[in-house]
Amino acid sequence: MPSANTARRIGVLISGRGSNLQAIIDAVAAATLDAELAVVISNTPDAAGLKHATRAGIETVVLDHTDKKCFPSREDFDRELVRQLKAREVALVCLAGFMRLLSPVFINAFPNAILNIHPSLLPAFPGINAQYQAWQHGVQFTGVTVHLVTAELDGGPIVLQEVVPVHEEDDAETLSARVLEQEHRLYPRAIQIVLNGKWRLEGRRFLHRV
Ligand code: GRF
Repeated sequence: MPSANTARRIGVLISGRGSNLQAIIDAVAAATLDAELAVVISNTPDAAGLKHATRAGIETVVLDHTDKKCFPSREDFDRELVRQLKAREVALVCLAGFMRLLSPVFINAFPNAILNIHPSLLPAFPGINAQYQAWQHGVQFTGVTVHLVTAELDGGPIVLQEVVPVHEEDDAETLSARVLEQEHRLYPRAIQIVLNGKWRLEGRRFLHRV
Protein backbone atom coordinates (compact mmCIF):
# COMPACT_ATOMS: atom_id res chain seq x y z
CA MET A 1 0.00 0.00 0.00
CA PRO A 2 1.60 3.34 -0.96
CA SER A 3 1.69 5.90 1.84
CA ALA A 4 -0.05 9.27 1.46
CA ASN A 5 3.29 10.74 0.44
CA THR A 6 4.39 8.23 -2.16
CA ALA A 7 0.88 8.26 -3.66
CA ARG A 8 1.58 11.82 -4.88
CA ARG A 9 4.92 11.04 -6.49
CA ILE A 10 5.02 11.19 -10.26
CA GLY A 11 7.71 10.50 -12.82
CA VAL A 12 7.61 12.27 -16.19
CA LEU A 13 9.14 10.76 -19.32
CA ILE A 14 10.14 13.08 -22.15
CA SER A 15 12.06 13.01 -25.41
CA GLY A 16 12.09 16.64 -26.54
CA ARG A 17 10.67 20.10 -26.05
CA GLY A 18 8.98 19.44 -22.71
CA SER A 19 6.22 22.04 -22.82
CA ASN A 20 3.78 19.63 -21.17
CA LEU A 21 6.38 18.91 -18.52
CA GLN A 22 6.60 22.68 -17.93
CA ALA A 23 2.81 22.86 -17.62
CA ILE A 24 2.94 20.13 -14.96
CA ILE A 25 5.76 21.93 -13.13
CA ASP A 26 3.74 25.18 -13.24
CA ALA A 27 0.59 23.48 -11.96
CA VAL A 28 2.49 21.97 -9.02
CA ALA A 29 4.06 25.38 -8.27
CA ALA A 30 0.64 27.03 -8.41
CA ALA A 31 -0.77 24.29 -6.15
CA THR A 32 -3.49 23.48 -8.68
CA LEU A 33 -1.89 20.04 -8.91
CA ASP A 34 -1.15 18.26 -5.65
CA ALA A 35 1.77 16.11 -6.78
CA GLU A 36 5.48 15.76 -6.25
CA LEU A 37 7.72 15.52 -9.30
CA ALA A 38 10.09 12.76 -8.22
CA VAL A 39 12.08 12.49 -11.44
CA VAL A 40 12.15 13.47 -15.10
CA ILE A 41 13.63 10.86 -17.42
CA SER A 42 14.63 11.49 -21.03
CA ASN A 43 15.71 8.97 -23.64
CA THR A 44 17.47 11.73 -25.59
CA PRO A 45 20.45 13.42 -23.93
CA ASP A 46 19.78 16.84 -25.49
CA ALA A 47 16.03 17.04 -24.83
CA ALA A 48 15.21 20.70 -24.19
CA GLY A 49 12.75 19.65 -21.49
CA LEU A 50 15.60 18.51 -19.24
CA LYS A 51 16.43 22.17 -18.69
CA HIS A 52 12.89 22.88 -17.46
CA ALA A 53 13.32 20.15 -14.86
CA THR A 54 16.76 21.31 -13.74
CA ARG A 55 15.55 24.89 -13.43
CA ALA A 56 12.73 23.70 -11.18
CA GLY A 57 15.14 21.66 -9.03
CA ILE A 58 13.78 18.31 -10.17
CA GLU A 59 16.08 15.33 -10.47
CA THR A 60 16.77 14.27 -14.06
CA VAL A 61 17.96 10.99 -15.52
CA VAL A 62 19.05 10.36 -19.11
CA LEU A 63 18.73 6.84 -20.46
CA ASP A 64 19.98 6.91 -24.03
CA HIS A 65 18.20 4.10 -25.87
CA THR A 66 20.76 4.28 -28.70
CA ASP A 67 23.43 3.00 -26.28
CA LYS A 68 23.28 -0.61 -27.37
CA LYS A 69 25.98 -1.65 -24.90
CA CYS A 70 23.76 -0.72 -21.99
CA PHE A 71 20.47 -1.57 -23.67
CA PRO A 72 20.87 -4.36 -26.23
CA SER A 73 17.08 -4.76 -26.50
CA ARG A 74 13.93 -2.68 -25.96
CA GLU A 75 13.17 -4.83 -22.92
CA ASP A 76 16.59 -4.05 -21.38
CA PHE A 77 15.88 -0.35 -21.79
CA ASP A 78 12.39 -0.70 -20.32
CA ARG A 79 13.71 -2.72 -17.35
CA GLU A 80 16.09 0.11 -16.49
CA LEU A 81 13.30 2.67 -16.85
CA VAL A 82 11.19 0.65 -14.41
CA ARG A 83 14.11 0.36 -12.01
CA GLN A 84 14.72 4.11 -12.00
CA LEU A 85 11.05 4.90 -11.40
CA LYS A 86 10.50 2.23 -8.74
CA ALA A 87 13.65 3.36 -6.91
CA ARG A 88 11.93 6.73 -6.47
CA GLU A 89 8.62 5.18 -5.41
CA VAL A 90 6.72 6.76 -8.25
CA ALA A 91 2.97 6.16 -8.06
CA LEU A 92 2.15 7.45 -11.54
CA VAL A 93 4.19 7.70 -14.73
CA CYS A 94 3.31 10.56 -17.09
CA LEU A 95 4.44 10.32 -20.70
CA ALA A 96 4.91 13.84 -22.04
CA GLY A 97 6.17 13.62 -25.60
CA PHE A 98 8.06 10.39 -24.90
CA MET A 99 8.76 9.07 -28.37
CA ARG A 100 9.32 5.40 -27.61
CA LEU A 101 7.08 2.41 -27.77
CA LEU A 102 6.89 0.71 -24.40
CA SER A 103 7.11 -3.07 -24.12
CA PRO A 104 4.99 -5.23 -21.75
CA VAL A 105 8.00 -5.17 -19.39
CA PHE A 106 7.22 -1.53 -18.70
CA ILE A 107 3.45 -1.54 -19.06
CA ASN A 108 2.98 -4.52 -16.72
CA ALA A 109 5.20 -2.90 -14.08
CA PHE A 110 2.74 0.03 -13.68
CA PRO A 111 -0.75 -1.38 -14.21
CA ASN A 112 -3.23 1.46 -14.86
CA ALA A 113 -0.59 3.88 -13.59
CA ILE A 114 0.83 5.25 -16.85
CA LEU A 115 -0.73 8.29 -18.51
CA ASN A 116 -0.16 9.68 -21.97
CA ILE A 117 -1.29 12.87 -23.67
CA HIS A 118 -2.19 12.74 -27.34
CA PRO A 119 -2.97 15.74 -29.57
CA SER A 120 -6.24 14.50 -31.10
CA LEU A 121 -9.62 13.19 -30.05
CA LEU A 122 -8.76 9.51 -29.89
CA PRO A 123 -9.53 7.06 -31.38
CA ALA A 124 -9.21 9.47 -34.33
CA PHE A 125 -5.68 10.05 -35.57
CA PRO A 126 -3.46 7.87 -33.39
CA GLY A 127 0.29 7.79 -33.98
CA ILE A 128 2.56 10.65 -34.94
CA ASN A 129 1.64 14.07 -36.40
CA ALA A 130 -1.93 13.77 -35.15
CA GLN A 131 -2.59 17.50 -35.61
CA TYR A 132 -1.43 17.34 -39.23
CA GLN A 133 -3.49 14.19 -39.81
CA ALA A 134 -6.59 15.96 -38.45
CA TRP A 135 -5.98 19.13 -40.47
CA GLN A 136 -5.35 17.20 -43.68
CA HIS A 137 -8.42 15.06 -43.15
CA GLY A 138 -10.51 18.22 -42.96
CA VAL A 139 -12.20 17.56 -39.62
CA GLN A 140 -13.93 20.60 -38.13
CA PHE A 141 -13.17 19.60 -34.57
CA THR A 142 -10.13 17.90 -33.14
CA GLY A 143 -8.69 18.08 -29.64
CA VAL A 144 -6.66 16.50 -26.90
CA THR A 145 -6.89 13.16 -25.12
CA VAL A 146 -5.29 12.03 -21.88
CA HIS A 147 -5.49 8.26 -21.56
CA LEU A 148 -4.16 5.36 -19.55
CA VAL A 149 -1.44 3.49 -21.40
CA THR A 150 -2.03 -0.10 -22.42
CA ALA A 151 -0.24 -2.34 -24.90
CA GLU A 152 -2.30 -0.86 -27.74
CA LEU A 153 -0.70 2.31 -29.16
CA ASP A 154 -2.80 5.36 -28.14
CA GLY A 155 -5.61 2.92 -27.31
CA GLY A 156 -6.01 2.87 -23.52
CA PRO A 157 -9.00 4.05 -21.45
CA ILE A 158 -9.72 7.77 -21.87
CA VAL A 159 -9.39 9.88 -18.71
CA LEU A 160 -10.18 13.34 -20.15
CA GLN A 161 -10.70 14.95 -23.54
CA GLU A 162 -11.01 18.52 -24.75
CA VAL A 163 -12.36 19.68 -28.09
CA VAL A 164 -10.48 22.16 -30.28
CA PRO A 165 -12.29 23.61 -33.33
CA VAL A 166 -10.44 23.72 -36.63
CA HIS A 167 -10.76 27.08 -38.42
CA GLU A 168 -10.80 27.45 -42.20
CA GLU A 169 -7.76 29.71 -42.07
CA ASP A 170 -5.78 27.20 -39.97
CA ASP A 171 -2.73 25.44 -41.24
CA ALA A 172 -1.20 22.51 -39.39
CA GLU A 173 1.02 24.87 -37.35
CA THR A 174 -1.69 27.24 -36.11
CA LEU A 175 -3.90 24.27 -35.30
CA SER A 176 -1.06 22.54 -33.40
CA ALA A 177 -0.48 25.69 -31.36
CA ARG A 178 -4.15 25.86 -30.29
CA VAL A 179 -4.18 22.14 -29.51
CA LEU A 180 -1.02 22.57 -27.42
CA GLU A 181 -2.65 25.31 -25.32
CA GLN A 182 -5.39 22.87 -24.40
CA GLU A 183 -2.84 20.11 -23.72
CA HIS A 184 -1.23 22.31 -21.10
CA ARG A 185 -4.58 22.83 -19.35
CA LEU A 186 -5.79 19.26 -19.61
CA TYR A 187 -2.77 17.23 -18.52
CA PRO A 188 -2.42 18.59 -14.97
CA ARG A 189 -6.19 18.17 -14.46
CA ALA A 190 -6.07 14.56 -15.64
CA ILE A 191 -3.07 13.78 -13.45
CA GLN A 192 -4.93 15.16 -10.42
CA ILE A 193 -7.98 13.03 -11.17
CA VAL A 194 -5.91 9.87 -11.45
CA LEU A 195 -3.88 10.64 -8.31
CA ASN A 196 -7.08 11.31 -6.34
CA GLY A 197 -7.95 7.67 -6.95
CA LYS A 198 -11.71 8.24 -7.09
CA TRP A 199 -12.20 6.38 -10.32
CA ARG A 200 -12.60 2.91 -11.66
CA LEU A 201 -12.58 1.15 -15.00
CA GLU A 202 -15.62 -0.55 -16.43
CA GLY A 203 -14.31 -2.36 -19.45
CA ARG A 204 -12.38 0.36 -21.20
CA ARG A 205 -14.57 3.14 -19.76
CA PHE A 206 -12.93 5.38 -17.17
CA LEU A 207 -15.59 6.31 -14.62
CA HIS A 208 -15.09 9.25 -12.28
CA ARG A 209 -17.28 7.77 -9.54
CA VAL A 210 -16.01 4.81 -7.56
C1 GRF B 1 2.60 16.93 -27.48
O1 GRF B 1 1.88 17.40 -28.59
C2 GRF B 1 1.98 15.67 -26.93
O2 GRF B 1 0.59 15.64 -27.05
C3 GRF B 1 2.59 14.60 -27.81
O3 GRF B 1 3.92 15.03 -27.99
C4 GRF B 1 4.00 16.44 -27.87
C5 GRF B 1 5.02 16.76 -26.82
O4 GRF B 1 5.25 18.13 -26.69
N1 GRF B 1 2.48 13.29 -27.19
P1 GRF B 1 6.08 18.69 -25.46
O5 GRF B 1 7.43 17.96 -25.49
O6 GRF B 1 5.32 18.39 -24.21
O7 GRF B 1 6.23 20.15 -25.72
